[in-house]
Amino acid sequence: MAAIGIIGGTALARLAEVEGELDPATQQPVETPYGATSGPLLRGRFAGRDVIFVMRHGPGHALPPHAINYRANIRALADAGVEQVIAAAAVGGIGRGMRAGRLVIPDQIIDYSWGRAHSFSDGHAAHGKAPLQHVDFTEPYDGELRTALVAAARAAGLDAANGGVHGVTQGPRLETAAEVNRMERDGCDIVGMTGMPEAGLAREAGLAYACCAVVVNAAAGRGAGGIHDEIETTLARGMADVRRLLEAALPTL
Ligand code: HPA
Repeated sequence: MAAIGIIGGTALARLAEVEGELDPATQQPVETPYGATSGPLLRGRFAGRDVIFVMRHGPGHALPPHAINYRANIRALADAGVEQVIAAAAVGGIGRGMRAGRLVIPDQIIDYSWGRAHSFSDGHAAHGKAPLQHVDFTEPYDGELRTALVAAARAAGLDAANGGVHGVTQGPRLETAAEVNRMERDGCDIVGMTGMPEAGLAREAGLAYACCAVVVNAAAGRGAGGIHDEIETTLARGMADVRRLLEAALPTL
């Protein structure tokens, strides 16, 4: 069985280090034609499955969203034989019901990011001139993987929203209140900074990709208190819930 790729953001950054379930002795930084991955690919067992874990922001959470080498991360996972990728992400909540602590398995994306190397089709000789593809991105997330995550959340007794529009901003600053208002008018339910180009690249690479988002704060202009305080108080619980979701989902994949 192919290993399952897990891309961890803020919500899972410490899973490998703290839990020690992914063997640090086999850590390999990976060079790809697109440059180096964010950090080593951590190979290990989790919930009875072989997994390859990539820390999206790299060791020490040093890489800001716009400086992550999304192409290298996806290419390295594909080259390692991964066929399914679950991407964890901490997000802000915009839509009704998107309160802090809630899990969301989004089904749509609006990409507000810019200037990121967002395609393998870049005509660059050093990259082997990947053939130009206009991938079908009508449904940006893999339907079967989404269904499995939603079912696993139910089985684990976790409250996870089935669907939602994931707006992806450039960061690293948080949004203005007006930007969040515009995103709400656009139909966004949650806002994060790393969902793209990751999902698009996974589609180009032929990987089944779904996102498990955890709302860690009310988006700008929506909450009563400070955003950073809310993130601090919510992140640990959110991380534990994402972990529980993965534990329930992985054996079913
Ligand atoms: N905005 C964008 N990205 C985020 C947020 C937010 O409010 N919270 C966590 N990631």
